[in-house]
Amino acid sequence: MNSAPPGAITPATRLIALLGDPVSHSLSPRFQNAAFRAAGVDGVYLALRCSGADVPGLLRGIARAGGGGNVTVPHKAVAAESVELRTSAVERTGACNTFWLEDGKVCGDNTDVAGVRAAIRALIGDPAGARVLLVGAGGAARGAVAALLDDDVASIHLLNRTPARARDLVEAFPEGSALGIVTGVAELRGERFDLVINATSVGLHPGDPLPFEFDTVGGVGAALDLVYAPGETRWVREARAAGIPAADGIEMLLHQGAAAFERWWSRPAPLEVMRAALS
Ligand code: ATR
Repeated sequence: MNSAPPGAITPATRLIALLGDPVSHSLSPRFQNAAFRAAGVDGVYLALRCSGADVPGLLRGIARAGGGGNVTVPHKAVAAESVELRTSAVERTGACNTFWLEDGKVCGDNTDVAGVRAAIRALIGDPAGARVLLVGAGGAARGAVAALLDDDVASIHLLNRTPARARDLVEAFPEGSALGIVTGVAELRGERFDLVINATSVGLHPGDPLPFEFDTVGGVGAALDLVYAPGETRWVREARAAGIPAADGIEMLLHQGAAAFERWWSRPAPLEVMRAALS
C-alpha cells in the first residue's frame, strides 16, 4: 500500500474552516497551514465566506464530520449561540471564534481572550494592578475586558464613541467592579495609564484618524493596538515616536491562533513557525 507523502491531502485529512464574511483578507490560512505542516498534523485550513444564516449548520456539520474551525466577523455571536458547550470566555463575551468536537459535543471557545492576554503580557508583563484605558466597546473590547479582569488590573477606564454601547459592555461584566465609563477625553486630562488599548476598528484603513491622541492624558506607559495593518498601524508608529512602547494586533492574532490550534489538535502550537509565517 502506498503511504501518502507528508502534507498530502488524504481521506483522513481534517477540514479546519474559517467562517466569516469577508474572509479574503485573513492571515489565518497562511499561518495555520504552516503550523499544521510543521507539527505534522493531518489537516487543511480553508477560509469559507458564508452568511450568518448558514453558520449554525456549517459549524455543527464540519465539527461532527471530524473537523473544526474559526469564526470571524460578523459571525462570532451567532457561533456562540450555535455551539453545544461553551467555555467561560464564550459565556462572558457572547462571542465564539473557535469550534471543535469533543465527546460528541460541538464545543466553542473565544481564544481572542487568551490572545489579548498573551499580547498584553508580551508588551508589559503581568498587568496585575495596572491602570488601563480601553478605547472601544465592541466585540474586541469585550475580549480585552475579560482578559484584563482575569489578570486583576486595578482599573479599566472605558472610552467609546457611543456611550450606550459602553454601558452595555459594563452590564455584561457584573463582576467587573474595576470597570468604569469615561464620557470624553476631557475627563482624562492629567491622568496616567500603564496601558492604553485600541479595541476600535479605527486604523484598519490607511486614511483613518488616530483612535486616541496620546497627549490628551498625563502619561501612557504602553500602547496595544488590536488592529493590524501592513507595516504596522499609524497609532503604533505615533506611540513609538512619542517614546511609548507599542505593539499591534499581530501578537494577539498569533496567540489566538495558537490557542485555537491547541483546541483542534490537543498539542502545543508551533508558535515560532506561526510567527515566521506572519512576517
Ligand atoms: P469588533 O468586533 O472589531 O470590536 P465592533 O463590535 O463592530 O467590532 O466594534 C467596533 C468598535 O469600533 C466600536 O467600539 C465602535 O464604536 P461605536 O460603538 O461608537 O460604534 C468603534 N468605532 C468604529 N468606527 C469608529 C470611528 N470612526 N470612531 C470611533 N470609534 C469607532
